[in-house]
Amino acid sequence: MTDAPSRPAVEVRGLTKRFGARTAVDSLGFACAAGEVFGFVGPDGAGKTTIMRLLAAVMPPDAGSIVIEGVDAVREPERVRSHVSYMPQRFGLYEDLTVDENIAFFAELFGIRRNDRDARAARLLAASGMTPFRKRRAGQLSGGMKQKLGLTCSLIHTPKVLLLDEPTAGVDPVSRRDFWRILYGLRGEGVAIVVATSYLDEAERCGRLGLMREGRMLYCDTPSALKALMPGEILAIAAPAPRAARDVVASLEGVGGAILMGDSVHVVVDGAARRLGAIEAALAAANVPFDEIERIAPSIEDLFVSLLTEKAE
Ligand SMILES: Nc1ncnc2c1ncn2[C@@H]1O[C@H](COP(=O)(O)OP(=O)(O)O)[C@@H](O)[C@H]1O
Ligand SMILES: [Mg+2]
Repeated sequence: MTDAPSRPAVEVRGLTKRFGARTAVDSLGFACAAGEVFGFVGPDGAGKTTIMRLLAAVMPPDAGSIVIEGVDAVREPERVRSHVSYMPQRFGLYEDLTVDENIAFFAELFGIRRNDRDARAARLLAASGMTPFRKRRAGQLSGGMKQKLGLTCSLIHTPKVLLLDEPTAGVDPVSRRDFWRILYGLRGEGVAIVVATSYLDEAERCGRLGLMREGRMLYCDTPSALKALMPGEILAIAAPAPRAARDVVASLEGVGGAILMGDSVHVVVDGAARRLGAIEAALAAANVPFDEIERIAPSIEDLFVSLLTEKAE
């Protein structure tokens, strides 16, 4: 017997969704294999939530196809939903019920047998450090714990495909790490994970990324391949008035772009060593103070901003 050709868990072609005159998702194509984590990154309004809702078959697309585990999601949304678990941006926990009661509720909803449910819940709760809180009401949990409980409830029926919409928005770093540890474990179980995120450190944890803007996927590749697209090097200028510093350096020779990032300006240059002197001199000449300028390794964030600005021009 020969191996069956491996079929992606999720396969999307030409996917388009409009709301009135607005095209929220425009001719999207991508695939996600079993055991892969595929991330959609992009600013607010880029279309990430719409993609998740289309994949979860909670609304139909205007055009294109979605095949999940070999099932046509547009024609058979009900069948697809049995393979998919969808954790929306705001997961609907019952605040008056305890952690255990919430899990029991979702297990019943999915028709999970008691024994299977107890073993799985115990494992997921232990992995997320939630075991001591099983009797606490969901309304009394921290934001991070609520998200972890949401994930536990989403995973109680062992889906083939897990859809997560900004799962760690507003979550503390420790809970975030727990959360990702669970996701890596699921990857090992062959679950295909599609995650939308606006955190770029989270994006770097994905196997592949789709960079979205205004409904279009502008780039799709591994984080390291995307980083290699980064033209030039990055100088970070720490300055009390970063906006003024950006305006001074943006038009200098050898500068490909300058982006505000918190209290500093990240400047894309063709060569850090070559351009440092001229940048310092220009800031001094313009009377714009700065604390320090250092070369930093590009992050997905730098890449993202530089690629998106490039395409916008
Ligand atoms: N139900 C809806 N009705 C009208 N417009 C919508 C609806 N859902 C999303 N949109 C619009 O589609 C675009 C993409 O939104 P969304 O998918 O929520 O993006 P993201 O999750 O990346 O922030 C936005 O312009 C948004 O206003
Ligand atoms: Mg969204």
